[in-house]
Amino acid sequence: MKNILVTGGAGFIGANFIHFELQKHKEINIFNLDALTYAGNPRNLENLPDPRRYNFIHGDIRDRQLVRRLLEENKIDTLVNFAAETHVDRSINNAQPFLDTNIQGTFALLEVSREYYSSGSSLPEFRFHHISTDEVFGSLNPTDPPFSETTPYAPNSPYAASKAASDHLVHAFHHTYGLPVTLSNCSNNYGPYQFPEKLIPLMINNALAGKVLPVYGDGMQVRDWLYVEDHCEAIDLILSGGRTGESYNIGGNNQPANIEIVRNICHILHHLAPGSRRYEELIQFITDRPGHDRRYAMDTEKITRELGWVPRESLETGLQKTVEWYLENQEWVRSIYNRPDYQSWLGEHYGTRGGTQ
Ligand code: NAD
Ligand code: TYD
Repeated sequence: MKNILVTGGAGFIGANFIHFELQKHKEINIFNLDALTYAGNPRNLENLPDPRRYNFIHGDIRDRQLVRRLLEENKIDTLVNFAAETHVDRSINNAQPFLDTNIQGTFALLEVSREYYSSGSSLPEFRFHHISTDEVFGSLNPTDPPFSETTPYAPNSPYAASKAASDHLVHAFHHTYGLPVTLSNCSNNYGPYQFPEKLIPLMINNALAGKVLPVYGDGMQVRDWLYVEDHCEAIDLILSGGRTGESYNIGGNNQPANIEIVRNICHILHHLAPGSRRYEELIQFITDRPGHDRRYAMDTEKITRELGWVPRESLETGLQKTVEWYLENQEWVRSIYNRPDYQSWLGEHYGTRGGTQ
């Protein structure tokens, strides 16, 4: 049996990864360490394929004693670090939690993993896999080539800077102490269980509720969208075949402007949940995000060449599935919307920008 410690597995990508792994591998146990911040939701882990091989531990990745105990008692051979503060807009309002979890938290995991690995109590094939983002590379001009693994880091938001710092620490622990690490830098994900503050679920759910669809600036910013299950498959391939010390870029090979994404969502909703009004009429251009990165794009040649990974979903099929999932899971959505902390985030963030919720 392989024993995998997943951190941040009650969030969007971590939960999808746990579903994916339990479905794909019959010979693994998963231990999920999650602090259950506003973004962590135990409901994301209901209906797991084989719940007997899943264990939840409520705790913080900065709690070294707890992490040490989890590694040793469960003979962990693989640690996958998803735990992070992830919303760029929140990092602009208050960067402190991003430094605490993304930098200090990753550092704590690395320190404990180093002790565990060098004490000989770990299994020989121990691996620390760190989940990161394309945002560490900064912003591209319209004609620039996509980011490759060797593109210099140039993070712009406090979120991206904190992720860049954690990536550097992970590389340094490999270079200096020989800790067996791999990293993946992925573009924007979308799909089931994404917290509704992010662009795609926000637009789906606002449209269904007849609320404004708040597009920042001119809506011409470009992201490289990837369906979350494709990301999970890429991580799974890196865990089994990725080379130690290496980073792998992951992306969807499609780069529509934000406004196109929003219009596509309106179009899909028009067919699946026709209303009395056209959803597109709800679009409103609002005050831009400060320091907003204009364009991201990923060159995924390395992971395709070395590990044979290519995304299975196109943006068209992935968006269709995602809209369907949110339509079928409106109770899940309501349980978040009805929380006072989420309502106050919406008021605080959109209230003064023109996008009335
Ligand atoms: P998310 O915000 O949905 O979930 C984050 C999870 O981490 C939550 O369950 C939260 O409770 C947990 N967490 C936060 N701080 C913690 C702490 N101190 N200790 C333990 N648990 C803690 O995030 P996501 O979108 O699933 O992103 C997961 C990872 O993937 C992050 O590292 C993020 O940087 C990276 N990433 C995300 C995207 C994307 O589009 N969402 C793209 C590329 C990379
Ligand atoms: P987001 O989902 O926050 O991801 P990130 O900032 O990490 O890329 O935003 C995706 C894009 O959508 C980004 O260019 C900002 C834009 N956006 C809006 O136009 N309106 C919104 O209400 C949100 C949340 C995002």
